[in-house]
Amino acid sequence: MNNYYELYIKINPDMEDDVANICFENLDCEGVLLEEQKFKDLEMTETSRGTLKVFLRTLETPDGSDVCEFIKAKKKELLKNGFSETELGSWDCALLEKENEDWSKKWKENWEVTHITDKVVIVPSWLEYEPKEGEFTISLDPGCAFGTGTHQTTQLCVVGMEQYLDKVVGKCVADIGMGSGILSIIAKKYGADYVYGCDNDPTVIDVAKENALKNNVECVFELGTSDKVNEQFDFICANILHNVLYEIMPDLKRLIKDDGVISLSGIMDNKKDIVLDAIEKNDLKILKTNYMEPWVSYVVSK
Ligand SMILES: C[S@@+](CC[C@H](N)C(=O)[O-])C[C@H]1O[C@@H](n2cnc3c(N)ncnc32)[C@H](O)[C@@H]1O
Repeated sequence: MNNYYELYIKINPDMEDDVANICFENLDCEGVLLEEQKFKDLEMTETSRGTLKVFLRTLETPDGSDVCEFIKAKKKELLKNGFSETELGSWDCALLEKENEDWSKKWKENWEVTHITDKVVIVPSWLEYEPKEGEFTISLDPGCAFGTGTHQTTQLCVVGMEQYLDKVVGKCVADIGMGSGILSIIAKKYGADYVYGCDNDPTVIDVAKENALKNNVECVFELGTSDKVNEQFDFICANILHNVLYEIMPDLKRLIKDDGVISLSGIMDNKKDIVLDAIEKNDLKILKTNYMEPWVSYVVSK
C-alpha cells in the first residue's frame, strides 16, 4: 500500500469550502476534513476549526510546483481578485507523510446525517437512517463535488425552495452549479416535474447523475453554464460564489418565467453589495432575505 499525505492549511473558517474546492480541483485529493472535534463528557475539549486537513494520494500539482507553494500561489490569485488577508487567513501549510491505513474512508467518518430543514434529511450513502414522520431522506455520495448538505449556502437554498414550494411542485426547476446534485434531487423529491442542472466542473457531472440514480429520481445534468441554457423555469436555484452570481444575473433573469422565483445563495454577508447591485441592475425584486451567519441568500423575481 502506498503512503499518503496530510496537508494542513491554516485558513479563515469562512473560507473552508472555497479552499476545499481548490484542493479537489487541483490536487490529487481524496477528501478534506473541515473540522475535527474531540469531546469529553459532552463537552468539546479540542477543535481544529481554522485548519483544513486535506488527504492527498500524491504530491502532484498542475504546474509541477511544491504543494505548499501551489496553495500559496492560489491565495495570491484570490488576493489579486479582491479578497483581503483577514477574509482568507494565512494559508500557512504543513505537510505530513503518513503510512497508509484505510485512510480513503477516514474523511467520511466525520460526515454524519444532516437535517437540512424539518423535512429534508441528507444521509451519507454508507449510513442508515430511519426517517421520522414528515421527513424525507436523500442518500448522497458527493465524491469530489461540493454539496453534502452541511454547508449553510446549500441549506439557505433549500429554505428558499421551501418558502416557494408552489413554484417547485409539478413545475420546472433549474439548478445552476448543481455540484453533487443535492438541490436538484431535493426539488425532485418535493415533486418537481422536470429538473435541469448544469455545472462548469466536468468532474461533478457523473457524481450528480449517480446521486440522482441512487435516489430514484430523474434529472437532466450536463456540463455547462447558464448562458448556454435556452429554456424557462418556474424556480431556479443558484448557489455559486458572489462574483459568478453577479456575472450570470442577466442569464438568470432570461431563464426565469415571469411568475417564477430565483433562490440566490453562496453570498458572504460582506460581499452582498455586489449581488444586490446585480439584482438592482437587472431590475429584479427581492421577495425574501434569509440569513445563516455569515451567509445571506435572496429569493428574487422579475
Ligand atoms: C457552492 S457549489 C454548490 C453545489 C450545490 N448546488 C449545493 O448547493 O450544495 C457551486 C457549484 O457551482 C459550480 N460553478 C461555478 N461557477 C459556475 C458557472 N459559471 N456555471 C456553472 N457552474 C458553476 C461549481 O463547480 C460548483 O459545483
